Amino acid sequence: MAFPDTRPRRLRRTPTLRRMVRETRLSVDDLIAPLFVRPGSGVTKPIDSMPGVAQMSVDRVVEESRVLEELGIPAVILFGIPEAKDPIGSDTWSDEGIVQQAVRAIRQACRDLIIITDVCFCEYTDHGHCGVISTRRDGTKELDNDASLENLAKQVASHAKHGADIVAPSCMLDGMVSAIRQGLDDDGYQDVAILSYAAKFASGYYGPFRDVAESAPEFGDRASYQMDPANTDEALNEVALDVEEGADMVMVKPAVNYLDVLQRVKEEFGLPTAAYHVSGEFAMIKAAAANGWLDEQRCAIETTTAIKRAGADLVLTYYAKDLAKWL
Ligand code: PBG
Ligand code: ZN
Repeated sequence: MAFPDTRPRRLRRTPTLRRMVRETRLSVDDLIAPLFVRPGSGVTKPIDSMPGVAQMSVDRVVEESRVLEELGIPAVILFGIPEAKDPIGSDTWSDEGIVQQAVRAIRQACRDLIIITDVCFCEYTDHGHCGVISTRRDGTKELDNDASLENLAKQVASHAKHGADIVAPSCMLDGMVSAIRQGLDDDGYQDVAILSYAAKFASGYYGPFRDVAESAPEFGDRASYQMDPANTDEALNEVALDVEEGADMVMVKPAVNYLDVLQRVKEEFGLPTAAYHVSGEFAMIKAAAANGWLDEQRCAIETTTAIKRAGADLVLTYYAKDLAKWL
């Protein structure tokens, strides 16, 4: 054979040839759209740091869900901004809680759309942490894992009762998956699946989300329960525990800086694997595009394709609706 080998180039000559040899195909089937639901009616409140993303009242969330279903997007994930916060986040298990209202309304309006609920407390607690806070003997405060687990079980039972198909715990509590599985099974919700935020890193890229979800911690940070960005073995251990505890699907979050973790998780466990292209990752593309520095559509497709190529079966992305139109 003569060198250089010209084979690679021959197959890149035309769009059709490239299409024939493409290894990763992004599809609308891969997308999960995050939605932020707030009290009121007729309200769509845009968020500065996340252009195109808004807090919406239940009626608006229903309208949006219909559009997403029409576009072929299989699932939405709901985040709630409650009427009132308290130290324990009791809105999360109230029959009239903001997420419960949204789940019921979407369930009625959209027959086939899969409804995923994010399961956490930080949007619902007045201190902004992902559970109940207790005070150590030395006076410092910490997330009380076991007390939080009890409330978690109540939250999940309530989401299931109102019609959630999949619950997605994002609080990084130890033992959260087994507590949830047991709670669901005891209540007769064997068919409700668990998508665990199994490897969730303590990331600076959640900044804009905390604006839209109004969930920034009042004191301290989440580094004692979310993972150190420097670790991959630990991520695999976290995922192994969640798989053992009964997770049906696992998630790596954020996505782009953790593609190596994603690849290992998919290889090692072979479960349906999701990746969350988070608010800061989204905002970076938006901001650069707004300045004319990046081609938004091209970069959004490239990034989402890369996440899938690394091993994600599903991508939670604020670009879901745009991608559904572009693909
Ligand atoms: C909290 C939660 C966070 C996100 C989803 N659920 C981040 C956090 O504040 O720790 C981030 C999503 C995003 O940035 O888009 N349970
Ligand atoms: Zn949280």
